[in-house]
Amino acid sequence: MDLAVVVLAAGEGTRMKSSLPKVLHKICGRPIISYIINAVQNLNPVKLIIVVGHQKEKVMENLDDGIEVVAQESQLGTGHAVLVVEQYLSDYEGSVLVLSGDSPLIKSETLLELVRLRENSMATAAILTAKLKDPGGYGRIIRHGNEIIRIVEEKDATVDEVKNDEVNSGIYCFDNVKLFDFLKDVKNENQQKEYYLTDVIGVIKDNGEKVVSMMVEDEDEILGINSRRQQAKVDEIMRKRINYRLMDEGVTFIDPDLSFVGPDVIVGKDTVIYPLTFLEGKTSIGEGCEIGPSARLVNATIGKDVKIQNSVISESIVGDGASIGPFCSLRKGTEIKKRAKVGTFVEIKKSEVGVNSKVPHLSYIGDATIGDNVNIGAGSITCNYDGIEKHRTIIEDDVFIGSDTMLVAPLRVHKGAMTGAGSTITLDVPAESLAVERSEQRMVKDYLKKKLKKNNKGEND
Ligand code: UD1
Ligand code: CA
Repeated sequence: MDLAVVVLAAGEGTRMKSSLPKVLHKICGRPIISYIINAVQNLNPVKLIIVVGHQKEKVMENLDDGIEVVAQESQLGTGHAVLVVEQYLSDYEGSVLVLSGDSPLIKSETLLELVRLRENSMATAAILTAKLKDPGGYGRIIRHGNEIIRIVEEKDATVDEVKNDEVNSGIYCFDNVKLFDFLKDVKNENQQKEYYLTDVIGVIKDNGEKVVSMMVEDEDEILGINSRRQQAKVDEIMRKRINYRLMDEGVTFIDPDLSFVGPDVIVGKDTVIYPLTFLEGKTSIGEGCEIGPSARLVNATIGKDVKIQNSVISESIVGDGASIGPFCSLRKGTEIKKRAKVGTFVEIKKSEVGVNSKVPHLSYIGDATIGDNVNIGAGSITCNYDGIEKHRTIIEDDVFIGSDTMLVAPLRVHKGAMTGAGSTITLDVPAESLAVERSEQRMVKDYLKKKLKKNNKGEND
């Protein structure tokens, strides 16, 4: 089956009240238009054209390389938007699927069914329709008996027509050659002075050609996003779809309504997702993990049996059996190896923490390589920045760093060495040695007695 696809994405999206083009607003972390492109790419079209216009550079930046775009320089309506691609489809005969860039819930199977319907019924146009409880804002399908005779936009509809709850999804399949013939007869004599694509249906019918329709089973699929309220509603539906799919694959959600997972995230079976967890980008999580409550993972790669609580992990890797948090931040370029533990109020950046090593409390580790079986005492810090440059700290296997150690980089603490609590270490520490850097403790005898005496004297003055 040959298929061409045109996605309309040139409009401004005035009702969003945004400086960002509408199709770039996000649903579950990904631009609205990306979902539509994915759905149509599953149909392997011979041609896929995105019509861009308003802030077209910004829209194009967000499209994958190799996707063909055509510019509609002034946005004179959906019918006009289709007309601008005519010359790019001039040598194509067959089905053309036309859809809006603002309906991300549409599924490939539904689109395929619509294309088949047109081809099997040898109709000039097939329209996807839906019955909506709240049809407000959508174009209405006008029938004579069973037959569709035209589509009327809400703004141009009569009181009776507005009551009709069968709406136009904005998704159509046409005979490519006939579509462009008939589009030329569409006028802009309406409320908005626009060339409506919807009007081509009336023109097709007036020419005695066949128009068929298919009512979508799940009306959510056709929901368009014109406002922030509709965006929130679609986001909620998409979120459910993603979380329910993961549940079907063996993932537990304590509360799927309060867990936010992106469409490209992978989660292994028997992992439990606690509420207020955000899994974003290309994050992948292995089997048997406990994630959350309250965690944000962005492009994170997490192994098996990992526990993560109240933490933020970005562009980092966590190995099997490791434990992260509560209240920990792993920043870009960090790798926590198997069974390591990173505890409370710890920030780690661009560093490696070895197998079985522990950074349990209140530390900053930056630009460091920590070996296996290392213990970093509470409050210890790698001083990686001298105000001009960043330097590395290397802590070899089996090292014990005493609490509140300042490790001034560049620095190497060799295998099996120790540092005394409260030390500021500026020199490399040889293997199996102890480095202590602090002044000797001084005792002032009878300090309290002396202090009280001094204070009483002060009062009498
Ligand atoms: C459109 C339909 C309406 C249907 C609804 C379904 C028309 C006239 N109306 O209304 O019947 O019920 O979709 O969601 O078609 N666009 C362009 N160039 C333009 C104008 C729009 O590319 O000059 C693009 C927009 O970026 C958008 C799509 O076309 O992705 C639809 O435009 P929009 O303004 O959202 O149309 P609706 O009012 O929702
Ligand atoms: Ca719309």
